[in-house]
Amino acid sequence: MSFSAILINWYLTHKRDLPWRNTSDPYKIWLSEIILQQTRVEQGLPYYLKFIKKYPDVKKLAKADEDEVLKLWQGLGYYSRARNLHFTAKEIATKYKGNFPSNYHEIRALKGIGDYTAAAIASFAYNLPHAVVDGNVMRVLSRYLGINEAIDSSKGKKMLAEAAQELLDFKNPAVYNQAIMEFGATFCVPVKPDCENCPFNYSCEAFRLNKVNELPFKSKKTKITKRYFHYFIFDYKGKTYLHKRKSGDIWQGLYEFPLHEANSYLEFEELLKSQLLKDVARHTKMRLIKTSSIKKHILSHQHIFAQFYHIHLNKPFTNKRYIEVPFEALNNYALPRLIHRYLEEETLL
Ligand code: ADE
Repeated sequence: MSFSAILINWYLTHKRDLPWRNTSDPYKIWLSEIILQQTRVEQGLPYYLKFIKKYPDVKKLAKADEDEVLKLWQGLGYYSRARNLHFTAKEIATKYKGNFPSNYHEIRALKGIGDYTAAAIASFAYNLPHAVVDGNVMRVLSRYLGINEAIDSSKGKKMLAEAAQELLDFKNPAVYNQAIMEFGATFCVPVKPDCENCPFNYSCEAFRLNKVNELPFKSKKTKITKRYFHYFIFDYKGKTYLHKRKSGDIWQGLYEFPLHEANSYLEFEELLKSQLLKDVARHTKMRLIKTSSIKKHILSHQHIFAQFYHIHLNKPFTNKRYIEVPFEALNNYALPRLIHRYLEEETLL
């Protein structure tokens, strides 16, 4: 039996029943794929259902307010994905009159849609023969073919893309693509895959050469930046202050408390010398009520160390960078998960 026949056989008996697999609506497929990038199915599923309920088609999403979309996305991370999703929905509504484009090149040209997502939409919605290559597929192919090239090198990427396209079942691209992703996600897993029971254990190069644990591999280690965030939760008569993050950094468009970022942890004495607290001190007396423990928040290329300072104010602090928000309305704003989680811990939400 061919690679694709074995794979599809395996899939048809082992697949999970997931809502985006029972549709050929390109909007729903697109939405599911954007949510599922970097997110496990169990975590992504409730978001998918919420989005489909609130925005059942691309026109509804196009009409939404960006803040509302970000709010619904809250907790998934990678907020630029949500902004691109919204941007592209508007583009489809205007340029394509609400009809999702149906050929690979037009799909690939949309903002936020790369090779992987374009192939997923083209195959799942239109059964077009474009092989998907995501992290799961790279692992399956690197092992099965014994590809000894770093998967983040241009040579490795090219080999994988060519191999993927060669192994694709041109008669059944939709099922084949779902099958290879499912196989990578649930069977050919990174750590301790069950090779003894694998349908490919006679034909897998990595298994034959005892290299399953070494493949795939990367050449570069991702460089991690450490950042130290000091957040001030001011309280003036039950109201606090929020700032909307701008472009050019993480969490664009999300709301956060007034922030002093530094290169290391700072004690409160040090923080009193920051521009922010000096500005506040010009308006009003401050009383430090509570300092949180240090919260570590891990992003793909950054580790954020955050501390929250609860400070009572005698007078309001008016500054055009910040909006005044009653504590009970905090939940109406899209907040980074770090902040949302802290407020939940403190039962402030
Ligand atoms: N991860 C990314 N796309 C997926 C899909 N279509 N089904 C299951 N997991 C996925």
